[in-house]
Amino acid sequence: MIYLTRRAEFSAAHYYHNPELSPEENRRLFGKCNNPHGHGHNYTLEVTVVGEVDARTGMILDVKDLKAALEKEVLAAMDHRFLNKEVPVFAEKIPTTENLAVEIWRRLAPNLPAGRLYRVRLYETPDLYVDYYGD
Ligand code: NI
Repeated sequence: MIYLTRRAEFSAAHYYHNPELSPEENRRLFGKCNNPHGHGHNYTLEVTVVGEVDARTGMILDVKDLKAALEKEVLAAMDHRFLNKEVPVFAEKIPTTENLAVEIWRRLAPNLPAGRLYRVRLYETPDLYVDYYGD
């Protein structure tokens, strides 16, 4: 099997808030991240696909398709957005790096050949990232 990774960067704002908790609990749990005016991150996204090399093309998939799916399904929806307010799923779900990685997977998987999406790695800072493998 061959693993191929495409990297993309995007910037977005968010804040952390759980409406089921009191304002005090939210502040205690999320600290500065609870400020409803939000704060920004420069995210780095790495999307890895897996497959066997196609003898005809020498490739595991057409990288143009991967780039197009990334741009259409992720970057167009999330780059320079206030995630809580502009990406509907994050009106309900807290837009943590974990939940963002899951949402990115959910958006990409149906737009790539079946079974090819292997990993979504999302860096919130150069020192902090999450990996999601779709389960
Ligand atoms: Ni943050």
